[in-house]
Amino acid sequence: MHHFQYINGELFAEDLAVKELAAKHGTPLYIYSTATLKRHFQAFDSAFSGLEHLTCYSVKANSNLHLLRLLAGLGAGMDIVSGGELHRALTAGVGPEKIVYSGVGKKAEEIARALEAGILMFNVESRAELERINAIAGQSGKRARVSLRINPDVDPKTHPYISTGLKKNKFGLDIDQSLAAYQRAKELKAIEPVGIDCHIGSQLTSLDPFMEALDKVLAFYERLKDLGLDIRYLDLGGGLGITYDEEDPPHPSELGRALTEALRDLPLTLILEPGRVIAGNAGILVTEVLYTKKTPSKEFVIVDAAMNDLVRPSLYGSFHRISEVVQMHRPPLTVDVVGPICESGDFLARERVLPLVEQGELLALFSAGAYGFSMSSNYNSRPRAAEILVDGDRVIVARRRETYEDLIRLES
Ligand code: LLP
Repeated sequence: MHHFQYINGELFAEDLAVKELAAKHGTPLYIYSTATLKRHFQAFDSAFSGLEHLTCYSVKANSNLHLLRLLAGLGAGMDIVSGGELHRALTAGVGPEKIVYSGVGKKAEEIARALEAGILMFNVESRAELERINAIAGQSGKRARVSLRINPDVDPKTHPYISTGLKKNKFGLDIDQSLAAYQRAKELKAIEPVGIDCHIGSQLTSLDPFMEALDKVLAFYERLKDLGLDIRYLDLGGGLGITYDEEDPPHPSELGRALTEALRDLPLTLILEPGRVIAGNAGILVTEVLYTKKTPSKEFVIVDAAMNDLVRPSLYGSFHRISEVVQMHRPPLTVDVVGPICESGDFLARERVLPLVEQGELLALFSAGAYGFSMSSNYNSRPRAAEILVDGDRVIVARRRETYEDLIRLES
């Protein structure tokens, strides 16, 4: 459920007409809905209320500070993957004891900062990283809480670029390597192994891969207990999918029920790292039609948003629903919706049936709240879009539109 709805043929973000927001703030424009973000976070978090748990929103999905503040205010912890995300999470007021740090390539400086901040734990992805964390923590007289990230070799049945729990992926350690790494972790003076971590992929539309991974992780947990390790946290990562088109992913409550059933009697705090399911359908990208163009083989709608603003269609062939901001009830046409960037891969939709649109009209791309702005770039020297956060009839400019001066500021 989200709060972008048509009223008398006109798209609204909560109580505000998108057309007016675009007139005031310009295009391309990311619009996020506060009510939707709150609803998604609360629906997700409450699904696990039967268990000791911590919902650590995955900052990479949408790292805007205003959004992080909103989620922190609702009690969210954060899942981070860089020093930059640590900075954002702390700036947004997230307590360090609610931050978990994942990723295969943590730099020494990033590790040191996270230790200094006192984060809940590192999700460690290799033996070499474990040794490095031990060395850095030892130097500053600290003990680092860690989980090792298990790669359970489960097929999440999602796009290959966003599958992470298969043997061939760079993430985590397989079960045998993990066991040896935990044995090593036990010996290291500045390491405190407190958890097990696992994240198998993103945009999962069935519970089966989650449960398959859980079975393997729980079997592994039993082996760790035999080693005499005091494992207190089970981090199952993120990955729950959303509806972009016709997918029918499980509701968080279904995941909640299944995990509660499986974990009820275990002395573990469950950590979850949802990103897309919180932010994805809480955002749209609004763009203006610059030109329409008919060639002998195609009809193109050229808009002012491009792959630098929303790279998902170009990178993964992802589908984002596109609709007119003001419905004109014109006949349908099969079109490619493309941006101004000088690459044939710059498209937002291909072979899409849309009502005929005209120059100057607005289109909305739905489900753009996750991995939209956070993956944007300045390619073709395009200033990045503005982001606004709507709350009822109020608007916060969550990030002002970049200017040409912003583009060159660091180059003098
Ligand atoms: N935890 C870890 C360790 C992750 O690697 C990720 C996502 C998440 C949590 C959050 O996953 P989510 O709940 O959002 O599925 N750019 C791609 C998605 C990449 C996901 C990377 N890792 C896309 O646009 O679809």
